[in-house]
Amino acid sequence: MKVIFDTDPGIDDAMALLYLSKLPEIDLLGITTVVGNANIETTTRNALFLRQQFGLTAPVIRGAGETLDGVVKPEPVAVHGDNGLGNIDIPAVDESGLLAGTASQFIIDTLRANPGEVTIIAVGRMTNLALALRQDPEIAKLARQVVIMGGAFGYQGRSGNITPASEANIHGDPVAADEIFAAAWPVVVVGLDVTHDIILDTDYLAALAAEVGENGELLRQMSDHYAEFYNNVMGIAGVVGHDLLAVTYVLKPEWFETRDGPIRVVCDGIAVGQTIQMPASRVGGHPDWAERPAQKICIGVNSTAALDHYRQTV
Ligand code: BDR
Ligand code: CA
Repeated sequence: MKVIFDTDPGIDDAMALLYLSKLPEIDLLGITTVVGNANIETTTRNALFLRQQFGLTAPVIRGAGETLDGVVKPEPVAVHGDNGLGNIDIPAVDESGLLAGTASQFIIDTLRANPGEVTIIAVGRMTNLALALRQDPEIAKLARQVVIMGGAFGYQGRSGNITPASEANIHGDPVAADEIFAAAWPVVVVGLDVTHDIILDTDYLAALAAEVGENGELLRQMSDHYAEFYNNVMGIAGVVGHDLLAVTYVLKPEWFETRDGPIRVVCDGIAVGQTIQMPASRVGGHPDWAERPAQKICIGVNSTAALDHYRQTV
């Protein structure tokens, strides 16, 4: 399966990339970066580091450093650390892995060269995808599937993680996210409704370090910082593997319960970044929803199977 991984590394982004690196069925075509867990220089440097560390050959392509809403948000250093990867030591990176050009152009060129074949896994702000769509709206017809980590729809009592209404990747660029949901490509949203079932606790991380070797130990070290945030601020005993679950969906959609319907994003005001889905059965009589395509959101997951599969694969 051909994949573009759009990312803001990020500790859970690193978990997802390690997963992708271990899956023979995945043909990773490119790693596109976006501002989010750190600024664009840092997320791009981190992507180059992880590419090298995980033995990947796919190029890194630098993406957007500014979002479409024009609002600069503080870097979430309490969550991902000053360097975006939990303040681990990062050696000098091999810049030869960086492809010239922009992420949005790479997305356009790759979809045009592989019509109907490419799955985009987007686990950061949706800015690169929205820029690509603005530049070439026809690409919506060319993607096989767009699987995003983002949003919170209130299932399982899950609310946002930036505000009670909004999740980080959507809050980071609500304008871009709303444009992604309006386009006629098949979107699947893996949001907090399901990612908060993927808790990597101390024992799980210790097992990764013991069984996976150097890269397992690296994930464990990164997670020390991440765990402080989850323990102290969210009251969770472990870290949440948000982004790796978007990869799980691509591999094992049968482990997820989903709902269909158009999705909109609140783009200003107190609830900015809130994601709302109108169930497909209720769209009739609502022209402002009916004009949008039905997309899928995940509302339940077999978390035991997902956590076991991750550990066995990496
Ligand atoms: C999302 O926000 C980022 O901090 C994580 O990497 C993940 O993609 C979770 O809300
Ligand atoms: Ca991310």
